Formats: sequence, C-alpha cells, structure tokens
Amino acid sequence: KSHAFYDQPHPPGIQTPPQRHCIVMTFDMSEGTVGSDLQTLLARWSAAISRLMAGQPVGQVQPTRTEAIGQDTGEASGLDPASLTVTVGLGPGLFDKRFGLATKRPALLRPLPVLPSDALVTSQSGGDLSLQVCSDDPQVTYHAVRNLARMARDTVQTRWTVIGFGRASAGGGQQTPRNLLGFKDGTRNVREPEEFDRFVWLKDAGWMTGGTYQVVRKIEMDIEIWDADRVSDQEHIFGRTKLEGAPLTGRTEMDTPNFSAQAKDGTPVIDPTAHIALAAAENNQGVKILRRGYNYTDGINQFGQLDAGLLFIAYVNDPQHFITLQRRLGASDLLNEYISHVGSGIFAVPPTPATGHYIGEQLFA
Ligand code: HEM
Repeated sequence: KSHAFYDQPHPPGIQTPPQRHCIVMTFDMSEGTVGSDLQTLLARWSAAISRLMAGQPVGQVQPTRTEAIGQDTGEASGLDPASLTVTVGLGPGLFDKRFGLATKRPALLRPLPVLPSDALVTSQSGGDLSLQVCSDDPQVTYHAVRNLARMARDTVQTRWTVIGFGRASAGGGQQTPRNLLGFKDGTRNVREPEEFDRFVWLKDAGWMTGGTYQVVRKIEMDIEIWDADRVSDQEHIFGRTKLEGAPLTGRTEMDTPNFSAQAKDGTPVIDPTAHIALAAAENNQGVKILRRGYNYTDGINQFGQLDAGLLFIAYVNDPQHFITLQRRLGASDLLNEYISHVGSGIFAVPPTPATGHYIGEQLFA
C-alpha cells in the first residue's frame, strides 16, 4: 500500500493510521550554511520523499557507468512501500537572520520551556530539522531515513535519533496497541476528522495553514522497577485495568472514565493524580492532543538494565496545549516514579506541496 505525497490537504504521517515502525531523526544545519542551502535541501527532500512514498528508489541503484556510485543505496529494492510516510519538521533555530527567515517564523514556534521533571540530555534534544519516517516494514523505514540523511550530508549534521517499533497509538479501525509498560495506549485519542480540524490542523495561519506543530519526547522507562510492581498498583497509576484497559470506574476499554466516582470509604476510584485523571480532556478545559507514539529500545544501558521507553510524538495546533498538559503531568503524575523525559524537540510541520512544488517553498518567495 502507498500514500500520496503531493496535493494532499495535510502533511502525511499524522492523520495516517499509525504504521508499525517509525524512526525519528533530527538534524542541525551545518556551520556556514545559508538560506539557499536550506531551500535546496527542502526541494531535494520533497522530490525524494514523493518517490520513496511511491515505493521508488531516490535515484539509480545500478549506475550505467562502472566507476559511478549509486544514487540510491538499494536495500529497499523489490520491497513494497509498506505505507511509508515521511513527515518533515522545521525547528525554531531556522527562523533567524542567518537563513534570512527571521520574519517567517511560524507564529507559535518557540523552543519548549523547561518543564517539571525534565531530565533532558542535550545530545538527544533540539534540532533544526526533523524527519518522522513510518512504515510497516523496518527495512523500508530505515532505507528512507538513510537515503534522506545521505543526500543531505553536505548541508546538515545528524543530531539525535530514536528507532521506534510497535506503535503506541491507534487510528480508526485499528485495535489499541500496548506500550512497553503493558497497558493499552491510544484508547482516548484524537480520532474523528472534526477533532483533527479542531485540535491538530492550523487554520488561518498564512503559509502554515493546513500544517501543524510536532512535539517529540524520548521518555525512558525504568522497566525493571515497573516489572517488580504489583499489577493493582500499576492500574492505580494509570487509572485503568491492565488487560482490558477499562477505566477503574468501568468494565470495558471504551467506557468513559468517571473522575468523580467514590469508593465506599469516600476515596476517589480513579486517583486524582493517576495518569488519565491528569491528562483527560474533561480535566483540561476540553483540550486534546494527538498522540502518535511508538515504543523504542536502545538495547541495554551501562548498568546492564533494559534501555527502553516511549517515543512520544504529539501533534497540536497550539504547542501550549502540550506544555500545559506536561506541566500538570510532570508535577504530579503517579507515573513519574517510573519514567524520565530524556529527549525533546519541537518542530513546525508545513503543509504538503502541490505537484511541482516543495515543502516550505513559501519561505523563500
Ligand atoms: C492516556 C501511557 C506520557 C498524555 C494514556 C494511557 C496510557 C498512557 C496507558 C491510557 C490509554 C489511553 O487513553 O491512551 C503513557 C506512558 C507515557 C505517557 C507510558 C510515558 C512513558 C504522556 C505524556 C502526555 C500524555 C507525556 C502529554 C503531555 C495522555 C493523554 C491521555 C493519555 C492526553 C488520554 C487521557 C484520557 O483522555 O483519558 N497514556 N503516557 N501521556 N496520555 Fe499518556
């Protein structure tokens, strides 16, 4: 299956039903580069992305001249596009005098403020550009990232990357998958087209109209400690049951949580500092964010412990919606004992170009 790139109402990889695998890679513009370098890069990336999403190589795999190097590295040849999407994000650092873009900054694009319980590592945060590459085949996903990075080598340096698997969010018609803490993730998410229009897509935003903002957080889990915890305590932390994923006030996954229900002894059934109690729209002036995350693992850490977590990716038409939520969660979420936010980035995702045009072209007009 393949997704179209040009002439779409919105950029790919956001409202698209989550594929099985995802790599996020971020880049910095190399020292000495200027606006025209960025412009060339966005034009070349756009053409390459449209080919990759159609299941084509970015260029020749097998050159006719024996002394030539290949334009495409070849490892996806013969494979299906596997629903590949590539989503390009522009970081706050691009919008300055050096690139001639100081007056073109997307209205709400600013570096994220320091948030409670941040444990950010500089080498895993920030970036001038982001690529979110998702597909149902890890080889196809990696091939796309590798070739996009390869053709950008003269202009950018890689900054950080997270290799995700096993989606941690569901789209329409998909079963809710599970995160690495073993709980269903994505039960109550932005799903209906009207909710995308209300909470995700930018309206009346000049050249950014139809685009959105992307927040990426690499959230490490203390897997061993979690695995030693009683399931009843784990359920208390989320406010949901483990196998079914039902709210503690309901029976089935899709039952609406009742945050005011009390037990016989007068205590709330769902703890007010349970993850879903703090995050639910009902308790946040009706605000929703689209979560489109993946599980990740980096193998084992220096202490011999499993190094894994959640590649949290959110899309919002106002970054403040994420900031407000994470301020509440970071301050009092019961889950905090088992997680730490180690990586972070924010990017503006421009709308998709029309045929013959490229991402961000309006910046250089
Ligand atoms: C709900 C896990 C981080 C926002 C949930 C649910 C789980 C979960 C299991 C319940 C099922 C569902 O409705 O999807 C996690 C884990 C995290 C994490 C393991 C970190 C490792 C975050 C962060 C945010 C967030 C950083 C936002 C700043 C939400 C929201 C809901 C939710 C908005 C829906 C609440 C509702 O309406 O009931 N999360 N989450 N989560 N989470 Fe998280």
